[in-house]
Amino acid sequence: MARVLVVDDEEGIRRTTEIFLRAAGHEVETSGNVADALERAAGQEFDVILSDIVMPGDDGMRLLEIVRRRSPLTQFILITGEPTLETATDALRLGAFDYLPKPVRKETLCRVVARAGREKVLLEKNQRMHEQIRRHREKLELLVAERTSSLSAMAEQLRGALARLATTLEGTTLALSMAIEMRDPYTAGHQRRVAELACAVWDRLSLHRDARDGVRIAGLLHDLGKIRIPVDILCKPSRLTPAEFSLIREHPVAAWEILKRVEFPWPVATIVRQHHERLDGSGYPDGLEDADLLRESCVLAIADVVEAMASHRPYRAALGVDAALAEIVRGRGTAYWSDAVDACVQVFREDGFVFPD
Ligand SMILES: [Fe+2]
Repeated sequence: MARVLVVDDEEGIRRTTEIFLRAAGHEVETSGNVADALERAAGQEFDVILSDIVMPGDDGMRLLEIVRRRSPLTQFILITGEPTLETATDALRLGAFDYLPKPVRKETLCRVVARAGREKVLLEKNQRMHEQIRRHREKLELLVAERTSSLSAMAEQLRGALARLATTLEGTTLALSMAIEMRDPYTAGHQRRVAELACAVWDRLSLHRDARDGVRIAGLLHDLGKIRIPVDILCKPSRLTPAEFSLIREHPVAAWEILKRVEFPWPVATIVRQHHERLDGSGYPDGLEDADLLRESCVLAIADVVEAMASHRPYRAALGVDAALAEIVRGRGTAYWSDAVDACVQVFREDGFVFPD
């Protein structure tokens, strides 16, 4: 049942209305003017206010205006002895629940007040629900903010750990690369220079950016297998015997044996194993052909040949970059991957590539 305030300057109407509404089970207070009604409404929230429009002092419209501002959920019913279209329109514009012309029959009065009371209950429920949703959303937002901040901190830590790992990998690879080359002073820096050229060719080919680091590491370690070859063969200043040469040919597999145990994010061991293979199957150790070769291996093969020919060797003087490029152009499409040959020539001729010291 609703809590109702009846406002009317005529005591007789106030009394009758009060009796009707109490009989219908409502809790009722009465007031003879707007000032008194406002005082009562300030002390407690009514579900329904039933007010006459024309009264001495402030009228019912004014009361409606103030009550709507103070307690927007309270339902307001205006009653008038002089109904006009204008007052009816004003009443609805100001948010009145209903507008009743006098005399109001008991049944009508009770029905409208009961409806207004139910409307108030619904609005309150609605408001509570919105409040719960708002609080729930605030909690969720707080939770999301906390999680986001802890995830950001974790991501930052991970980035730091990854950067340290990358530095360690780079340092370890360079150290290993230098360690192999220390055994053979004539080829010192060969792997680093091959890695530089292979990366330049890779960039020129606009191939997968992520794979570039694999090409670089494979370049730095591609002769790792020479660790198994005696130094006097490696540094021999004259032509190798067939037996010595076949020992040299084992170095890609020897390197693969070592590197296959390392879990790189790139197929480093395979690239290294394939660096002496040729498209036409004339290479070693497996005599693979074009379709079986990684693009990384094809690029590394070219970089290896060009660097080796361009540099000094114990058994011959440096042949120079021009001769080295002529050699790969000669094998373009047969021994060497055409695109990589073209890219390698462009790297020297157009980009001005120079081997680092
Ligand atoms: Fe090699």
